[in-house]
Amino acid sequence: MDKKVTVVGAGNVGATAAQRLAEKELCDVVLVDIVEGVPQGKALDLTEAAPIEKHDAHLIGTNTYEDSRDSDIVIITAGIPRKPGMSRDDLISTNAGIMKNVVQEIIKLSPDAILIIISNPLDAMCHVAYKTSGFPKNRVIGMAGVLDSARFRSFIAMELNVSVENIHAFVLGGHGDTMVPLPRFSTVAGIPITELMEPDRIDALVTRTANGGAEIVKLLKTGSAYYAPASAAVEMAESILKDKKKILPCAAYLQGEYGINDLFIGVPVKLGSNGIESVIQIDLTADENTALMKSAQAVQELKDLINTL
Ligand code: NAI
Ligand code: 2OP
Repeated sequence: MDKKVTVVGAGNVGATAAQRLAEKELCDVVLVDIVEGVPQGKALDLTEAAPIEKHDAHLIGTNTYEDSRDSDIVIITAGIPRKPGMSRDDLISTNAGIMKNVVQEIIKLSPDAILIIISNPLDAMCHVAYKTSGFPKNRVIGMAGVLDSARFRSFIAMELNVSVENIHAFVLGGHGDTMVPLPRFSTVAGIPITELMEPDRIDALVTRTANGGAEIVKLLKTGSAYYAPASAAVEMAESILKDKKKILPCAAYLQGEYGINDLFIGVPVKLGSNGIESVIQIDLTADENTALMKSAQAVQELKDLINTL
């Protein structure tokens, strides 16, 4: 393949993302993890599936960074996931240290890469990656909104018994309990869901979306979601690698957009070969704006906490 993506963290999200990248033949994949044998074993296992899955992507598993040299994209999933009873925010001090170390290694060998951050708490980890890398803001992007809106889309499809392919949904804000699903911009074959569902049902789906991560943690008991998160990260990577210029909700570094400054938070962006090529600004109602500001405040508190670590 003429593109290379390094996935740091060969755990549940990282290995599943590697699998999807390879099976879609988007790029060669380098899987990096600190645990000896695990990235090598998973990369070899995925390689042995290639003749059956019919792809020619090369996969390498490693405990060092040499093979990551000149990556086009680096997807960072390294860190600890939450367990039942933990919030994403409980992960902050461990994952901030891991993020800093990983980014320091990555930038030495791939100074032009685009970083897609996945580790939680997401918006705060984006800030650590941005500050540590010194990369321009278009090359540090957080994955959350694509996942959160996919959850919302799934719940809408289940509720109305229609194809998921007919559904678009928008979720703004931080990746946490304060995220802001926007029913007004969520449609089924172009029809806003506000025309198709009673307000109490929409409220129920919005609440389920905001708690979507916790719902899976409670069921799995030993970790958090990974199939949908990996799909979300790969949709972002694909838009960048193919310069598709998809509009996707991603955590972006804002400098005044939506009245928010010096903070990563989820907003609609255009993703192309330059990473975030623009932030799409939409007019919010007073209630939507209040919810977004509350979410921004929650992210700001985490960012402040990181500055004290
Ligand atoms: P996992 O525990 O299965 O995998 C994490 C991997 O990171 C492990 O294999 C571990 O050995 C590795 N790791 C730890 N320190 C490392 C280092 N310094 N260098 C390289 N690798 C290192 O966890 P999972 O389920 O894959 O989740 C990963 C992270 O992604 C968690 O923080 C989780 O909360 C987050 N997450 C975020 C989502 C989002 O929407 N942004 C969605 C799902 C997960
Ligand atoms: C999720 O939303 C844990 O952030 C992860 O599933």
